[in-house]
Amino acid sequence: MNKSSDTQRMEKIVSLCKRRGFIFQSSEIYGGLNGCWDYGPLGVELKRNLKNYWWRVMVHERDDVVGMDGSILMNRAVWKASGHEDTFTDPMVDCRSCKARLRADQLIDKKGVKQCPNCGGKDLTAPRAFNLMFKTFVGATEDESSVTYLRPETAQSIFVQFKNVLEVSRKKLPFGIAQIGKAFRNEINPRNFTFRSREFEQMELEYFCRAEEGMKWLDYWLEERLKFYENIGIPREKLHAHEIPDEERAFYSKGTYDIEFDFPFGRQELEGVAYRTDYDLQQHIKASGKPLDYFDEETKQRFVPHVVEPSAGVDRTVLALICEAYDEDTAPDEKGKLETRIVLRFHPRMAPIKCAVFPLLKNNEQLVAKAKEIADLLRPHMNVFYDETGAIGRRYRRQDEIGTPFAVTVDFETLGEKDPALRDTVTLRDRDSMKQERVPITELVSILTSRIR
Ligand code: GAP
Repeated sequence: MNKSSDTQRMEKIVSLCKRRGFIFQSSEIYGGLNGCWDYGPLGVELKRNLKNYWWRVMVHERDDVVGMDGSILMNRAVWKASGHEDTFTDPMVDCRSCKARLRADQLIDKKGVKQCPNCGGKDLTAPRAFNLMFKTFVGATEDESSVTYLRPETAQSIFVQFKNVLEVSRKKLPFGIAQIGKAFRNEINPRNFTFRSREFEQMELEYFCRAEEGMKWLDYWLEERLKFYENIGIPREKLHAHEIPDEERAFYSKGTYDIEFDFPFGRQELEGVAYRTDYDLQQHIKASGKPLDYFDEETKQRFVPHVVEPSAGVDRTVLALICEAYDEDTAPDEKGKLETRIVLRFHPRMAPIKCAVFPLLKNNEQLVAKAKEIADLLRPHMNVFYDETGAIGRRYRRQDEIGTPFAVTVDFETLGEKDPALRDTVTLRDRDSMKQERVPITELVSILTSRIR
């Protein structure tokens, strides 16, 4: 695919997201707020499905991981100890021609001369460190003593609660603590739709282990995380495990991979999987004076565990899911003429709405009553959408465009008017193949639940 068709594809995706209620600009009626986004009725379902599946796979289906939910505001001492207050910075450059503030690594390099990507200007300031944390004040006085920050990652609350969680969960090494929550970074250039935002969510696991097993668990978690993306519908060939070379890795990390995805705007990071050694716990031990260590009952030894951290972005993964799902094909309209069909081919497990339910005709009381009855039958098991307006083909198209994998239609055969043998059966249509099968209403719940789990 060439550059312009990738750009066009991205434009179509952004417009679909707004038109169908996946993602809106935050504070839109006031001109928006750069780097902030709101998820609409379908976006919130997609995001929730992703987070729920992550939690299921990373916490519920495992015996060695427990969860926690930390506060966004923490004692400033946390951010001093973790190194964020001094070093969580991006190099920033000002363009003196158009006054743009730019990340130094986003400048255009033309034959060794750096240029502003906005105006092409070459009159640029020297790079200076810009701290990405949002500063705020706790309590009624706004002075140095009340300063703290909105957390730029969820990980630190896991490290500072390590001892409490260890004690209450009575876990033995290796074991992990998982968390999903908001993080905030005052990015210099938010861009590529939700990809680089100032407010976003992370899904992080801190997996504590013995030092000698750190590299083994790094490899293990990289593989587990790649499998996770495949299981939500992102094919392996679009995923890349990029090993960060020694000179680019954080000094305390003994190995880091970025899991990257081929977005329409290029190959970009979805998740980092890092072996962080015992750096974070040691920093907090030094700064707090508290013993964040582990006592091995068997060897009677006390030591500070090492940690492997798979850290994924919720919003980036949602964007990857939408980009991967977006497709156009052709389907016959009401008169049999082929027209372009926009379809989101979400994995059924991720789809915001699992099944649409339609009465064939809106003005037939029996069809409507039966269809509503079926929607109520399915609702406790999945997110269902009932629709009776417009021609049936149009209703299918509307669902295709938002990625609903299944649609049930109640017709005259359901009422037993044509063939008594077909009474209480419905058509079940598949979004991707557009094929329809006839199934008994009594089997709908089990057929659908097995396909969406
Ligand atoms: N605790 C480690 C950590 O925070 P990171 O690589 O800075 O590592 C982890 O962030 C993940 O969080 C990224 O891979 C990405 O998915 C997501 N993320 C980071 N900054 C983001 C931003 N500005 N907008 C959206 N997602 C972001």
